[in-house]
Amino acid sequence: MVITDQDLQYFVTTLKNSSKYDFSEYSDKSLKRRLQKVLTDFNLDITGLISAIKNKPEFTEKIVKEITVNTTELFRDPQVWHTLRSRILPRFKNNKNINIWHAGCSTGQEVYSMMILLNEMGMLDKAKIFASDLNSDVLEAAKKGEYKYRFNIAYLDNFDKVIKQNPLNYEEFNDVPYETYFDIDKSRDTITMKKYLTEKPIFRKHDLVKDGNLFFAKFDLILCRNVIIYFNYTLQNKVFDLFHSNLYNKGILLLGMHETILGPWANKFEKMGQAYIKK
Ligand SMILES: C[S@@+](CC[C@H](N)C(=O)[O-])C[C@H]1O[C@@H](n2cnc3c(N)ncnc32)[C@H](O)[C@@H]1O
Repeated sequence: MVITDQDLQYFVTTLKNSSKYDFSEYSDKSLKRRLQKVLTDFNLDITGLISAIKNKPEFTEKIVKEITVNTTELFRDPQVWHTLRSRILPRFKNNKNINIWHAGCSTGQEVYSMMILLNEMGMLDKAKIFASDLNSDVLEAAKKGEYKYRFNIAYLDNFDKVIKQNPLNYEEFNDVPYETYFDIDKSRDTITMKKYLTEKPIFRKHDLVKDGNLFFAKFDLILCRNVIIYFNYTLQNKVFDLFHSNLYNKGILLLGMHETILGPWANKFEKMGQAYIKK
């Protein structure tokens, strides 16, 4: 089934009028792909979907959760974590506190990766970790910190690359046991983050389209990785505005591997790879 521009428009407008969700400034291409998947998965045509959205609020919540992409992993893009370790986090080493916001945290692997790295660098105690997402289901999973072992086994490699290997000298190997940070139970097929990690972050439902800063804190570091790739130029700029005004001076915004700041906000930050330092 091919989704036309008109179908997409119909879907987005109905959602906007019958719920608190507004996808009108998401990029059309990925939204069309997701809409197509939803129609197939729920065995509906666009008219059936629209009618369900108008009449069943709980169904609408379900659809919204299906429309967003929640893919994530432990230490996703290990080279970024090397940069965090060698060039970004050391900037805050002498701070009394360090406030970090993970915007669009999905099921939380990025949040746990950060806390693990901070602990290795002796900075976890002074860190305050805030994490948010639009989707309440992924937030619940993030709070729990329990993941499928078989599905995440490949990502333990990322842990090894970032935490165990010395990126400057791969011969050097620092043996950090996984059990310092999580328990692996192969019979239950789970990787479970330790309680001292799951208890630390403040998780909150937050919509980057319409909400301001719900944490009432300013930040040294904001990670918003693989989220704005789904937004159009207007919404991206709105989000850059939100982040810029809630970062401390010299605070850093970290974007995903395929995301860049273009347009008016580019000269308000100094670019360092995927990191943007507030001028
Ligand atoms: C692909 S995941 C990225 C997760 C993690 N940051 C990473 O890079 O691995 C994108 C997340 O952005 C969230 N998201 C999408 N639109 C959002 C919005 N308007 N406000 C907040 N979060 C949003 C989705 O629910 C999803 O969990």
